[in-house]
Amino acid sequence: MADILPEETKRFVRAALPEPDETLKAMEERGEGFPTVGREVGQFLRLLAHVTDAKRIFEFGSGFGYSAYWFADALPEDGQIVLTEYDTDELREARGYLESAGFADRAVFEHGDAMDAIERHDGPFDVVLIDHNKDGYPEALDAVRDKVAPSGVIVADNAMVSGVQDFDAILAALEGNDPEMDEESRGIAEYLLAMRDDEEFETSVIPLGEGIAVSYRR
Ligand SMILES: C[S@@+](CC[C@H](N)C(=O)[O-])C[C@H]1O[C@@H](n2cnc3c(N)ncnc32)[C@H](O)[C@@H]1O
Repeated sequence: MADILPEETKRFVRAALPEPDETLKAMEERGEGFPTVGREVGQFLRLLAHVTDAKRIFEFGSGFGYSAYWFADALPEDGQIVLTEYDTDELREARGYLESAGFADRAVFEHGDAMDAIERHDGPFDVVLIDHNKDGYPEALDAVRDKVAPSGVIVADNAMVSGVQDFDAILAALEGNDPEMDEESRGIAEYLLAMRDDEEFETSVIPLGEGIAVSYRR
């Protein structure tokens, strides 16, 4: 994970968090070198699920289930989180982690393209996490926007950095320029511009982890 917070600030933020449970610690060891949202964002996702009183959550890109685990912990027993992942082994791991914590009943595991999965679920969703291929963010927003509940939230991970996007080009686009950029950077920039202009949503970019864009549906 490419961090944007200075090391000392990150230490401060982390030190103020409660210790994660044993499963999360095991997942963090498994996640070394894998682009999970990381602990600071994970804890913030759980907080968002609590403050929105979330019953239904949808994830674009679940990997081996780290972010989903944080969410599932905040759901009531009759709540539901939809995980989407096209890597068979990662999704199997996600199922294993969620089952071991007793969360499997509240999880739906969708194997394949997240863009196909979203078509099979009507919403409304209280929280949506967008964290799949970066060039696909604008398309994911189009597909899920009208399925977000009033007072619901969309979180886009990698709003600021990732291993595949150009920070300076995205910043230039946000500042009104038209820089050359790769598909991934364009996906993030278009997403952030669309959210900034969308009057139905209130958006804030928060520099936790790799940067998250949090959009509240008015
Ligand atoms: C950044 S990781 C997700 C991490 C996860 N949200 C977490 O914090 O633990 C992105 C994942 O999305 C998957 N992915 C990318 N594009 C996808 C798509 N269109 N449909 C389904 N999965 C996709 C990748 O295989 C990868 O495992």
